[in-house]
Amino acid sequence: MGTSDRYKSPSGPKGKMFTGHLAEFQSDPLAFLSQLSKEHGPVASFRLGPFQRVKLVSDPELIKEILVTKQKSFIKSRDLRVLKSLVGEGLLTSEKEIHMRQRRLIQPAFKKSHIAGYAQDMIDTSISYLADWEHGQTRMVSEDMMNITLGIISKTMFGMEFNEGYERIGEPLEKCMKLAVRRMRSAVPLPLWLPTKKNMEFKEAVKTLDEVLFNIIEGRREDSTEHHDLLGILMAARDESDGQGMTDSQLRDELMTIFLAGHETTANALAWTLFLLSQNPEAEKKLHQELDQVIGNRNPNPEDFMKLSYTQNIIWESLRLYPPAYVIGRDAIEDVVIGDYLVKKGEMVMMSQYVMHRDPAYFEQPESFLPERFENNYMKTLPPYAFFPFGGGPRVCIGNHFALMEAVLVLACIARRWRVRLAPGHHTVRPQPLITMRPKQGLLMVIEEHKNL
Ligand code: HEM
Repeated sequence: MGTSDRYKSPSGPKGKMFTGHLAEFQSDPLAFLSQLSKEHGPVASFRLGPFQRVKLVSDPELIKEILVTKQKSFIKSRDLRVLKSLVGEGLLTSEKEIHMRQRRLIQPAFKKSHIAGYAQDMIDTSISYLADWEHGQTRMVSEDMMNITLGIISKTMFGMEFNEGYERIGEPLEKCMKLAVRRMRSAVPLPLWLPTKKNMEFKEAVKTLDEVLFNIIEGRREDSTEHHDLLGILMAARDESDGQGMTDSQLRDELMTIFLAGHETTANALAWTLFLLSQNPEAEKKLHQELDQVIGNRNPNPEDFMKLSYTQNIIWESLRLYPPAYVIGRDAIEDVVIGDYLVKKGEMVMMSQYVMHRDPAYFEQPESFLPERFENNYMKTLPPYAFFPFGGGPRVCIGNHFALMEAVLVLACIARRWRVRLAPGHHTVRPQPLITMRPKQGLLMVIEEHKNL
């Protein structure tokens, strides 16, 4: 029996001779991946360009093999590697030993017990930002959510207030991100050393950001007081095996990484949640009831987080329907068998949260917003990796507890007083899947005060 007979061959649609399925994938990745999985089952194959073979894996057990049991046979997909020019060898982009070491050093900063200390900052930042909201205003709430989460990461990471964080880091970072996405999307990103206009612009933006970050790090090295923000913890971290801490350039890469990974995702989760609530008044009513019962007329406090179970379920259900990280990609670095399929060295595998989270095999009424489904330890009843908004295995989102707490507390601060509705004549809300999945053209909403506080 030949090697090929031993393995199942995945099926897939016939693509164009040269470009394969690049056009369909790029124009609407969510529709393309959903249809592929529906029509071709747990492992479907397609091609991006002339050479890049891809397998879309849509079976929880096989996803677990890729992310956990056989993760050593994979590295992050090339798409993400483009980000290296921005975040260097930070946690998101580094591989193997460097990644493992950095993960060991940083993990303690994201332990549940540590994160509890950030809850008050999350609440204070939200309340102070929301103080500008007025009854009857029409606001781009998707931008508001970005501003709030940027404020929170600035405060928890550097102890900076929102304005300072935005001006010094938010603005140059946004510029870098835009240019990085442009690089990612170009079919052949030109090497950075070529002095093209776009390359120069990108390098200039990274330089500005570098100056800010190195400045902050230097300031801290000269300052002998103990800081309890994330930067303080990262600077004090020592590797158990050799007692070494991080160099300035490692710190810079990690700060940039956490800033990048840590605000846009949660902002999108919050924007989608507000949209879903505006469409589901029953769920919104139950949310208001819980907030009334747990918080009443006082300001929210960190202890409320654990008591807000319906609010948490709203966030889980929102992450199910609109997962900000909608696809995870990996490249095989050796031949590896996944289930009954052979993935060859150089092939890419994709696993899509968006596709899995709407699969009727795992979720009843998959298209409906039903936070109640998460009651009674529902997640434990699901096959592992049918629901994986934060990924899994050694590269699971390091900020998962941070993000959940942040989303719940920000939502509590908003919804205890405000109700939001799409502005009259609003365009149909659709997802725009870039690096993360955001509402296309934003969410313009009318703010109504439902409780006078
Ligand atoms: C709702 C919000 C968030 C979602 C949906 C999310 C999702 C994810 C996912 C799916 C991954 C794994 C990617 C892969 O395996 O290729 C990831 C990794 C990561 N996330 Fe998050 N994330 C969120 C919030 C955050 C926050 C708040 C932070 C930091 C404060 C953060 C920091 C990171 C980092 C550093 C990694 C890389 C971890 C590693 O490779 O070791 N994320 N995130």
